[in-house]
Amino acid sequence: MPPKTESELADRRTRYEEDLPEDRDNKVAQLLQEYSHIPADEIEPHLRSVRDRAWAIFPYTCIGAWRFLDLYVTKLPVYASVLGRLRDGGDRLLDAGCCFGYVLRQLAADGAPTSSLAGSDLEQPFIDLGYELFRDKDTFKGSFVAANMLSPDGEGREELNALDGTFDIVHAASFFHLFSWDDQVKLGERVVRFFRPADSSKKTNSGQPRLLFGRQVANIAPLTREELAARGEYRFHHNPATLQQLWDEIGDKTKTKWRVEAELVPETGRGRREPAADGTGKEPHKFQLWFAIYQEE
Ligand SMILES: C[S@@+](CC[C@H](N)C(=O)[O-])C[C@H]1O[C@@H](n2cnc3c(N)ncnc32)[C@H](O)[C@@H]1O
Repeated sequence: MPPKTESELADRRTRYEEDLPEDRDNKVAQLLQEYSHIPADEIEPHLRSVRDRAWAIFPYTCIGAWRFLDLYVTKLPVYASVLGRLRDGGDRLLDAGCCFGYVLRQLAADGAPTSSLAGSDLEQPFIDLGYELFRDKDTFKGSFVAANMLSPDGEGREELNALDGTFDIVHAASFFHLFSWDDQVKLGERVVRFFRPADSSKKTNSGQPRLLFGRQVANIAPLTREELAARGEYRFHHNPATLQQLWDEIGDKTKTKWRVEAELVPETGRGRREPAADGTGKEPHKFQLWFAIYQEE
């Protein structure tokens, strides 16, 4: 989608970084060598080629600014437990808004059975580029579904609905923050349906609580919906307290109960957006929210 105005063009420029980050030993480069067996000297052109084709599909910061390279998920406090649940506990994980599915490939490289992994994204081309990026079309046994999670009637809905009730863990990174509060409630309701239904003998295969985890852009003092509208924005960026409020609302609608554990982590690099000097303009991005949201009985 080409930019329509000068300010869209300028905004897009801040989200596209020409060169790969200095740190060439990033997690994805490591994965490409060890999991995909791509020789070291082919990695940079391979990454550039996939990144630029993905950027042409939709200019997300996670793509343009190479944010996917660090595989932040391995740094989350909950990562070891997620891996244990998948590897030894028989749990199944869905990556919602998975893009290329890099988190799924990291989990696979760390020993999670790929048949217990699935991804879902609006864009089939991101999923296809993921297979191309990791060269694992013949070995990755997990499934992918292309569908709009906010549209009950859209293309791919039957495949998406077939996933209902089949997961114990959902990962969602830089996903909920794309939407307004009301759409985040709808998305939460959709996510709750993906979880394995409560069973009298056990909560999940591993016996651990159902879990949604990930990261997203945060705001220490979230703006009200009116303040967002005044800035020409609608996306609601949470702090830990508003994220709990959101999940209380989702809980009320789905007759479930959720406990949010979340921490604010300073944003670095291209994802960081400074406040405008005159207090107007787009909402600043200075922190990420890393979260783990557990279902309570
Ligand atoms: C900002 S990217 C984040 C990708 C990845 N999770 C990450 O952390 O880098 C958001 C992803 O959500 C997908 N997406 C956006 N709207 C969606 C929707 N309504 N249903 C399903 N996926 C959607 C996009 O195609 C994109 O891959």
